[in-house]
Amino acid sequence: MEYNESVSDLENRIRAHKRFSKTSLEKVLKACLDHVHNNSKILDLGCGSGNFYELFASKAQCYVGIDISKDLLQEFSCKRQQGALLINSSMDALPVFQHGSFDAIFSVYSIYYTMRPVDLVKNLHSLLSDDGYLFVVGPSKSTHAVEINEFCKKIIVGKGPVVKKNVRIDNFHSKIVPEIFRRFSTANLDEVDGSLYFPSSEEWAKYVCSTPQVRECSDLHAEELLARATEYSETNNCLLVSKYITVVTARK
Ligand SMILES: C[S@@+](CC[C@H](N)C(=O)[O-])C[C@H]1O[C@@H](n2cnc3c(N)ncnc32)[C@H](O)[C@@H]1O
Repeated sequence: MEYNESVSDLENRIRAHKRFSKTSLEKVLKACLDHVHNNSKILDLGCGSGNFYELFASKAQCYVGIDISKDLLQEFSCKRQQGALLINSSMDALPVFQHGSFDAIFSVYSIYYTMRPVDLVKNLHSLLSDDGYLFVVGPSKSTHAVEINEFCKKIIVGKGPVVKKNVRIDNFHSKIVPEIFRRFSTANLDEVDGSLYFPSSEEWAKYVCSTPQVRECSDLHAEELLARATEYSETNNCLLVSKYITVVTARK
């Protein structure tokens, strides 16, 4: 589950989600923020380049973003406003914070990179204030990019398809989510349709080739990979990436 994300690939996926997704992550996170009172202390675990910083900052007296990627944090620091504290750290070796330091902890498409789910959930629980909330957003177990799986299976020869992607989803749904349900006093799981509808094969291919899943199962050069994905989309009339978003809302 080693993490290897490039700034441009992540930016490309974020841009595609904003333009082509049925439900935006912004909408999902705004609904989560309804539970969070103004002037909260917010931790954004796996914050990346700060895609949702403005949203979180609207409810934050203090915002802390933690990420393992120096490049993404560098990108974040170029656009952040005053008041954000950015920390380069693994979620599995978090800096020491006092118990109850945060009113809300968000982890958006990142918590599944943990190597120590039980310890991490325990740690996050202890970092929350008494009535604090943990919001975890990630891929659904049942409907997650079957079109990309098919593309991997049919077109790409190389390291063997889709194994690593399943490791992340398994980690999320088999270890992390059950641990949250065990440890927190209340927890809910919602599934939201966040499928992407692309206007052209070029856009479909650009998105698909920027996913870790496709990069990990392919030995092809970027240009050839893109050409194959475009051809696949045209031949199969495939302009969809079906994705449900799992949202876990847990109260300490
Ligand atoms: C798909 S990106 C999501 C970024 C951001 N939350 C967003 O939604 O735009 C996954 C993020 O998790 C971070 N990450 C991966 N493994 C990590 C770890 N062990 N500890 C902290 N961050 C990690 C990556 O650097 C990356 O920023």
